[in-house]
Amino acid sequence: MKFFLLISLLISSCLCNSINIDDVYVTWKNTGEKTYFKVTANLKEFNYHDCWISIGINRSPLMNGANSVVCRMNNNVTWTRHYLNNGRSPSLLDENEPSLGLSDTCVSVIKDNITCQFIRKNQVDDKMESYFKINETNEYYLIYAAGEGDFGMHSRQGQTRMPVRFHLNPLISPADTTKSYDNNESHESNFKKIMGLVCKEFLNFLNNVFKKLF
Ligand SMILES: *[C@@H]1O[C@H](CO)[C@@H](O)[C@H](O)[C@H]1NC(C)=O
Ligand SMILES: *[C@@H]1O[C@H](CO)[C@@H](O)[C@H](O)[C@H]1NC(C)=O
Ligand SMILES: *[C@@H]1O[C@H](CO)[C@@H](O)[C@H](O)[C@H]1NC(C)=O
Ligand SMILES: *[C@@H]1O[C@H](CO)[C@@H](O)[C@H](O)[C@H]1NC(C)=O
Repeated sequence: MKFFLLISLLISSCLCNSINIDDVYVTWKNTGEKTYFKVTANLKEFNYHDCWISIGINRSPLMNGANSVVCRMNNNVTWTRHYLNNGRSPSLLDENEPSLGLSDTCVSVIKDNITCQFIRKNQVDDKMESYFKINETNEYYLIYAAGEGDFGMHSRQGQTRMPVRFHLNPLISPADTTKSYDNNESHESNFKKIMGLVCKEFLNFLNNVFKKLF
């Protein structure tokens, strides 16, 4: 009995979606009001101390018109902003609130990977058409870009071949989103609870079960 409870608990907490776009790894989890995102790219030739990564959603497989979250690392100073990509000149979705709809943002560079984590509100204001609403049925292409120096310069770019869905995965234990975190460990553990560790633990658990059975 305990065993099945454990399994169902692990299964229900492991329902995050993920996809590779080229060598960029994107994970997301829609909890109803918000969607957790984590995106990791290898920096390759880019300067580790001065780089950025962005992940956007769009109705077409193009950068143009996307809602893009840009995460920047510049000599240990980080920021995360929400842009609308209009042609070649992206503009903030909201000039007065650069990180409109975003919380729990964290940008880190570990070895040669840049990772950005954030929580995006699925909807901010019904009248704001430029802010793409995420729900269970709306589909969007995921579009990434990464580069060094200022956002927009020297970038690599790619997108999913098909639009993706944002299946609803309610949380078992909600994250503490009341605090704003710097690039530090408490943020990491908070996020891992929801996105990373639980999935990994689940796979290890299954591995062990299979080992015991066969
Ligand atoms: C870098 O990211 C990739 C996934 O994109 C992952 O497989 C690899 O383990 C990461 N490397 C490090 C050092 O974290
Ligand atoms: C960035 O942070 C690392 C680790 O905390 C530190 O060793 C390094 O000196 C910092 N670099 C700058 C430019 O502040
Ligand atoms: C999702 O939003 C679209 C409008 O953007 C709406 O037509 C659709 O009914 C919504 N789906 C759900 C499940 O609420
Ligand atoms: C991490 O950030 C939180 C919120 O800003 C802060 O309360 C906490 O002391 C920080 N932890 C470390 C280890 O820096």
